[in-house]
Amino acid sequence: MQSTADKQDAGLSTVAEASRRRGFYLETYGCQMNLADSELIQGVLEKAGYRPVADPLDAGVVLLNTCAIREHAEQRVAQRVRALISASRNSRVRIGLAGCMAQHHREKLLAAIPGLDFVVGPDGYRGLGELLNAEGSFAQLRLDRDETYADISPVRGEGTRAWLTIMRGCNRFCTFCVVPYVRGRERSLPAPVLLNELRSIAEQGYKEVVLLGQTVNAYDHDGVDFAALLRMASSVDGIERVRFTSPHPADMSARDIEAMADCDKVMPQLHLPLQSGSDSVLKAMDRGHDMEQYMRLVEQVRASVDDVALSTDIIVGFPGESESDFEATSAVMDEVGFDHAYMFKYSRRERTRAEDIEETVSEEEKSARLSRLIDEQQERARSINERMLGQLTQVLAESPAKKQAGWLAGKNPQYKTVVFDPHGAAVGELVNVKIEATGPQTLRGERVV
Ligand code: SAH
Ligand code: SF4
Ligand code: F3S
Repeated sequence: MQSTADKQDAGLSTVAEASRRRGFYLETYGCQMNLADSELIQGVLEKAGYRPVADPLDAGVVLLNTCAIREHAEQRVAQRVRALISASRNSRVRIGLAGCMAQHHREKLLAAIPGLDFVVGPDGYRGLGELLNAEGSFAQLRLDRDETYADISPVRGEGTRAWLTIMRGCNRFCTFCVVPYVRGRERSLPAPVLLNELRSIAEQGYKEVVLLGQTVNAYDHDGVDFAALLRMASSVDGIERVRFTSPHPADMSARDIEAMADCDKVMPQLHLPLQSGSDSVLKAMDRGHDMEQYMRLVEQVRASVDDVALSTDIIVGFPGESESDFEATSAVMDEVGFDHAYMFKYSRRERTRAEDIEETVSEEEKSARLSRLIDEQQERARSINERMLGQLTQVLAESPAKKQAGWLAGKNPQYKTVVFDPHGAAVGELVNVKIEATGPQTLRGERVV
């Protein structure tokens, strides 16, 4: 017969177990759009009665929000989820993959990864609470042309910067890219919904907002275009800085550039993915523009937006990329003088239009090309940043500096990281910093009043 104490223990452990099952642990991979989606997932789950926990071993639901852009991104997630499955050992923990990799490999993942309980794609988050409340494994992978989650409030993280998804999906189908297949067709959120969200972002105390979309400047809803949206975001009291990513060069209108130039709150920083400096490669990638158009755009932006910083994305080793194509990329990066660049080796992706194009650049050659561009970019950034020595720049203080006690770190208008002696300033303040040392990645200095 059970003693009263045993019964009490059993009762307590049932309560603890019920509470544990309501805890969710969420890890995010990939781009800012995935980060913003994780905030949405958090909103959905909290509304359904779940609460976030910091340790996967305390969770009833473990969820990785994944990226499919390159094979390497998927390999990392596959390793991580296997490790989480074997660490959990508790069969009642439900482990799932969300996001682009889930959408890319679909139900196959459930068979390929023993112990994986569910997969949910980027358009499947709305019903996640109910799906988790029911028993058993599931796959929620329907792409929905209309899903924008416009009525769902994301739970944003702490800090000074808020992410705001303004459009989802992509219609461009660049030949190397998996995004249109895993995120579906382009759709924009209604401007009034975005305006409400911007106001609530300001009320919550964020100083900066980053407007997000895979082709963010293709935003178009009920006659409101991206330029109008930039002006709208700038008009919201409390928001001091507006940024956006990623605009597509072929969607960049004169109106967009004008809005950037007119609005003081829109920061002088443009991430303009180039991918390759060679017309024949751009054509094979089906990017929708050639080099002449890209350079004209750079010229227009530089002529209109004072002190604008430019950054880009580059892919090396796309099938057919010859030595001279590659040299063209290196030369263009120099000519433009990018402040920053994300550079990648081409990774062949299933389902894309380039999947069946035979690869012509060996892995060794890709690595050699990539490391040359990285070295060149490092030197370029070093010399661009050196010009900042002795200058004043405005910094939004975002967090304590990692390596120097008492110092703060933040970004200047050009999105460069500045580490500085705050002389009493606090996180959240906009301060003037005099630059006293520079490197390829970081500027250092002290606040001046
Ligand atoms: N929508 C953005 C890019 C989003 S993906 C745009 O069109 O500019 C981010 C970057 O990942 C791309 O700009 C590209 O440089 C890189 N990328 C995408 N697919 C890739 C692939 N198959 N192999 C290597 N890099 C890739
Ligand atoms: Fe991919 Fe091209 Fe769409 Fe960017 S624009 S997400 S690279 S298909
Ligand atoms: Fe990756 Fe999906 Fe973003 S594939 S880059 S997480 S849209």
